Amino acid sequence: MSQEANKKAAAEAAIEYVKTGMTIGVGTGSTANFFIDALAGVKDRIEGAVASSEETSRRLREHEVPVLDLDHAGDLPLYIDGADEATRNLALIKGGGGALTREKIIAAASRQFVCIADQSKLVDSLGEFPLPVEVIPFARAYVARQLSGLGGRAVPRGDFTTDNGNLILDVHGLDIADPVALEGAIDHIAGVVSNGLFARRAADVLLLGTDSGVRVFEAGD
Ligand code: A5P
Repeated sequence: MSQEANKKAAAEAAIEYVKTGMTIGVGTGSTANFFIDALAGVKDRIEGAVASSEETSRRLREHEVPVLDLDHAGDLPLYIDGADEATRNLALIKGGGGALTREKIIAAASRQFVCIADQSKLVDSLGEFPLPVEVIPFARAYVARQLSGLGGRAVPRGDFTTDNGNLILDVHGLDIADPVALEGAIDHIAGVVSNGLFARRAADVLLLGTDSGVRVFEAGD
């Protein structure tokens, strides 16, 4: 099976978690897009969706899924989103699409976070994928120096502005032996808006599309 087919299979398996009357959080990226396409088939039985990016809002609206803002929706029962890397403990790196801050807010506001990914995203330890860090433009060089002090090499993402008007630094070479500690340490650098480690609030379920079907990993497995 192709990588795209595995993403689609994981995305379609997530529809089972969508219950009547729910307002759900919806993430960003190619796997999330497959989920949005599948969600269109059940849109009549949900209240609506909170989008983690402008791109996702657009796609939801194209499918005539009602898009609500988080302030109006309140806490959510369910969040579905992809990842750039995932461990068996369900810690993630996210933000390859640059939407990490809104993704992290929605994950925090959701009772259940179901991550959907193809088998290439499963890793033994995080960090081969450069860690995205959203930074206020004024603080770019300062934050890059602080990240260097943590052992990383921060590369500004060229020609990219987040939906919040900020920059992304992609950080290479970090040692992510303790993702919870590193997530906190990076968040404490002045000028950092958020970083792409989802370890303090990890996923609750990982649906992994593989060549032999969708594998389900749950917290505590
Ligand atoms: C978006 O900012 C990311 O967090 C995505 O969830 C991540 O990049 C996965 O994207 P794909 O589903 O396109 O691989």
